[in-house]
Amino acid sequence: MQESPTSTRELYDRHVIPTYGRFDLRLARGRGCEVWDEDGKRYLDFGAGIAVTSIGHAHPRVVRVLQEQVATLVHTSNLYFTRPQAVLAERLTRLVGAGGKVFFCNSGAEANEALYKLARKFGNEGSGEPKIQNSKFKMQNSAVPRIGIITMLGGFHGRTLAGISATGQEKVKKGFEPMVEGFRHVPFNDIAALTAAVDVPGTVAVLTEPVQGESGIHPASAEFLRTARRLCDERDLLLMFDEVQCGLGRTGEWCGWKSIAPEVMPDAVSWAKGIAGGFPLGAIWVNEREVTLKDGTKKKLCDLLGPGTHGTTFGGTPLVCAGANEVLAVIEEEGMLGNARTIGTHALTVLRAIASPLIHEVRGLGLMLGIELAADFAQRAKVPDGKAPALFLVEKLHEAGLLTIPSGTHAIRWLPALNVQRSDIDEAAAILARVLATL
Ligand SMILES: Cc1ncc(COP(=O)(O)O)c(C=O)c1O
Repeated sequence: MQESPTSTRELYDRHVIPTYGRFDLRLARGRGCEVWDEDGKRYLDFGAGIAVTSIGHAHPRVVRVLQEQVATLVHTSNLYFTRPQAVLAERLTRLVGAGGKVFFCNSGAEANEALYKLARKFGNEGSGEPKIQNSKFKMQNSAVPRIGIITMLGGFHGRTLAGISATGQEKVKKGFEPMVEGFRHVPFNDIAALTAAVDVPGTVAVLTEPVQGESGIHPASAEFLRTARRLCDERDLLLMFDEVQCGLGRTGEWCGWKSIAPEVMPDAVSWAKGIAGGFPLGAIWVNEREVTLKDGTKKKLCDLLGPGTHGTTFGGTPLVCAGANEVLAVIEEEGMLGNARTIGTHALTVLRAIASPLIHEVRGLGLMLGIELAADFAQRAKVPDGKAPALFLVEKLHEAGLLTIPSGTHAIRWLPALNVQRSDIDEAAAILARVLATL
């Protein structure tokens, strides 16, 4: 096919629905933690596709496996068994370490959709018998449909209609009302608010990110996760973790919550982003907890979504699963969890050493790092009226050769590949310090 002579930017302007406010960068290729634009300019990639290219760009082992798989079998439909999906499911359950089963889909929003449907099925078909003898809760809860899912303010769960309903940020809902019913939000890390919310009749599940990503890297407290587990146990609710951004190595653990409260085990988890290093794949893991159904029979939670209840054409193709298997094997064999922990600690140290009045706070876990800008950044740095300070800084960093991700108006994220080197961190920190000094 003949390539159009029109510029990439013009083709987008004419033909791509403008749902994204894109930066004016036309990226053409990548290797490791570096990318190059169409003009050959090099950037240090500390966004990694928003926590997606978890082992960097074009890792030779993944390239080889994908090339072999693409020439062997790309897709069959989920009407049949394929080896790469089976092996990946086994690997993921091993990484969680508590039995259970996995369902494959294509994205984070879609993985969360599977969690919402699991909670609906559990609420509609489960007996809802609480473990505590709290008869008030039991009576109230049996009087209304059990469809209530509690999520967190500031959380983000994706852009589908249920995803924006679950998300605790008004800006994603605007113009798409009414929301899907059943979602209620409480302030993140607010134990009293969660404790009150779980007793609202009809509640069936609690869903939280162990580390809030989109709102600027805010980890849950260990106490909050522990309390959530206890409240869910006492009331027969599901505890579900959205690990789409913080899971599978990003915090330095396979399970992000284990960086915070390793003893807490959720009932279900969603993954996407880094799971296949850049190939589109989402998944959920569900535990083996016994569910008593309304007719008195018992089922494992991980068998509740039975044949015909849920599915997707592309979920877990041999191609994407072969890629994900290799990505996860590379993380394991090349010691990238340890790297995420030690290099993440180094990054926190060098970022905190940038003593700029334009930075309010640096926080993070592993290679999930948030840089909160000073409240008066706009005045100090003379940011043009109407422009968010985070966007302004991200663009200045682009000019200086560093890709980072804005979070809201006043934070930027560093989410480099899990095999990022100390020298890359030092280079990125030097760029940031230099840019801040010019503002
Ligand atoms: C925590 C979390 N959940 C869900 C999603 C949605 O994932 P996707 O964009 O793959 O649908 C995101 C995306 O940023 C996320 O960070």
